[in-house]
Amino acid sequence: MAKLLNISLIITLLGLMACGQSNQQKQDNDQALKTKGKAIAQETFKALSKELKAALQKGGVAEAVPYCSINALPLTQTIAKKHNVSIRRTSLHIRNPKNFPNTQERKVLEDYEQSLKTGKTPKPQLTRLSDKQTMFNAPIFIKPLCLNCHGKVGEQISKKNYALIKSSYPNDKATNYKMAELRGMWSIVFQKK
Ligand code: HEC
Repeated sequence: MAKLLNISLIITLLGLMACGQSNQQKQDNDQALKTKGKAIAQETFKALSKELKAALQKGGVAEAVPYCSINALPLTQTIAKKHNVSIRRTSLHIRNPKNFPNTQERKVLEDYEQSLKTGKTPKPQLTRLSDKQTMFNAPIFIKPLCLNCHGKVGEQISKKNYALIKSSYPNDKATNYKMAELRGMWSIVFQKK
């Protein structure tokens, strides 16, 4: 009897240990995905803003808007392919209808807005979409450069430039932002092989 008890105790302990270990592994894995997500978002941001700055310097908003509409997506896709992920930027107030948030993204964006209301800064985070897919999200904040095209019409964006933006994006909802406001978020989906 005592022996049986011992054995069942050992089995229970082993079970607990295995469980503890897999939790630890899960945490390590999540940490690795977050680090990777942040690095990919940073790489994409750098590539996009390098091109954006060059176009703005060359011909102002009039040059940069058409440039962005044509090149932003292919540039993002090249980086996505390299890392075997999908990369999107989305927002609750979108300019490009292609960036419309899906249900899971909308939930995270709403959580981010909620955090801000309670004085907290939204943070990078993961959502398990399925056994094979994990979504990484990180907030995108407005910087001075962004106000050229996402600020107030008639102030930071001239009426003439806004007409140009509107002609490409008639349903634009992405203006009136102020410095450091939440503009949207990165949405990167990792696929397990
Ligand atoms: C030259 C004008 C211009 C500037 C400057 C600019 N944007 Fe945009 N932004 C656009 C256009 C045009 C789109 C829609 C095309 C696309 O999907 O990239 C867009 C789309 C976005 C989106 C995707 C969601 C949506 O509304 O469709 C995010 C997020 C975004 N911009 C953030 C920023 C941030 C952050 C900055 C500053 C670092 C910035 N933008 C600077 C013109 C600009």
